[in-house]
Amino acid sequence: MKNVLVTGGAGYIGSHTVVSLVEQGFYPVVVDDLRSSSSLILEGLSTLVKDGYTFHREDVCDLDSMTRLFQEYRFDAVIHFAAYKSVGDSCEEPLKYYHNNLLGLINILGLCRDFCIPKFVFSSSCTVYGEPDEKQVYEHTPKRLPESPYGFTKWMGEQIIEDLHRNVVPFQTLCLRYFNPIGAHPSGMIGELPKGIPNNLLPYITQTATGELSSLTIFGDDYPTPDGTCIRDYVHVCDVADAHVQSLFFSDPNPLCFFNIGTGCGSSVLEMVRLFEQVSGKTLPYTIGKRRKGDITEIFANVNASKNLLGWSAKRTVEDAIRDAWNWEQRRNKTHD
Ligand SMILES: NC(=O)c1ccc[n+]([C@@H]2O[C@H](COP(=O)([O-])OP(=O)(O)OC[C@H]3O[C@@H](n4cnc5c(N)ncnc54)[C@H](O)[C@@H]3O)[C@@H](O)[C@H]2O)c1
Repeated sequence: MKNVLVTGGAGYIGSHTVVSLVEQGFYPVVVDDLRSSSSLILEGLSTLVKDGYTFHREDVCDLDSMTRLFQEYRFDAVIHFAAYKSVGDSCEEPLKYYHNNLLGLINILGLCRDFCIPKFVFSSSCTVYGEPDEKQVYEHTPKRLPESPYGFTKWMGEQIIEDLHRNVVPFQTLCLRYFNPIGAHPSGMIGELPKGIPNNLLPYITQTATGELSSLTIFGDDYPTPDGTCIRDYVHVCDVADAHVQSLFFSDPNPLCFFNIGTGCGSSVLEMVRLFEQVSGKTLPYTIGKRRKGDITEIFANVNASKNLLGWSAKRTVEDAIRDAWNWEQRRNKTHD
């Protein structure tokens, strides 16, 4: 059985990846200090994969404890999720983002080099494309300077990795540029757990539907798109999780690869609202607000490389994701009652 270090493995994408890894015969060693997660996710994980993984409550910025962990296990691969992820929050507290997202990455990369770990997978984001000239972006589409400190941490994260690979080729790295992960595990045992008001659309929608939030605000309906709202490439989180497992099977002479992790199709905010109403049978109260600073009009992935080289493509539909997210939200609400 192969040991895989999963930093941030109690988080949204990390926890789904832990499930996929166990299903494929890997042994995930999760490191997470639960700063953005909770024991609810660990309970869900234990229900789903029993003792198929191990958990360490540690901070990836603490180099001494990370070094001890690398001494304790022989890792065959490292998947690095641990980071903060809110665009808005990062504008309020840029130092917090630069400190956590970059120091955590530097620590883990240095240990991968020192302990000769053969494979490293980095959580990047389509935010590295900034506002692109073309709506459909390829991995070779030029990167643009991001709008937020959060975006910069992903942009710089890729730069740090490229620089490391320029001098020494210590291991194979895959930078996975996620588009918009949504949904939850179909069991309803794990899912997205935003702290405070959600930044992402789907938890905002589901929390409005339960009455936890009074109304959904759509940020602008005057964009140059068919219905005036922004278009994004929404991809089921279980598909995103599977892309990480596929990354561990990936072999290529190129030591540094970048892949778009999306479906290749865009949906508008209003389309998502309508789809949610169809799937849930609920009517969503919403208002149209002003455009949100930093929101780009439209972006979706070109998925040729992830399909043909990585051997991964999204299998679930946006409807599947909405149904699973709604199931998770209802279960979570019951657990809170
Ligand atoms: N969800 C998205 O829409 C999205 C899109 C693109 C990229 N990403 C990236 O994917 C990764 C995972 O995102 P997510 O949605 O699962 O986020 P998340 O906040 O749900 O998960 C991150 C996990 O990392 C943990 N963590 C953070 N800092 C830590 C530290 N110093 N030490 C130990 N644990 C720490 C948190 O407690 C949390 O459980 C992040 O790097 C994020 O930037 C996410």
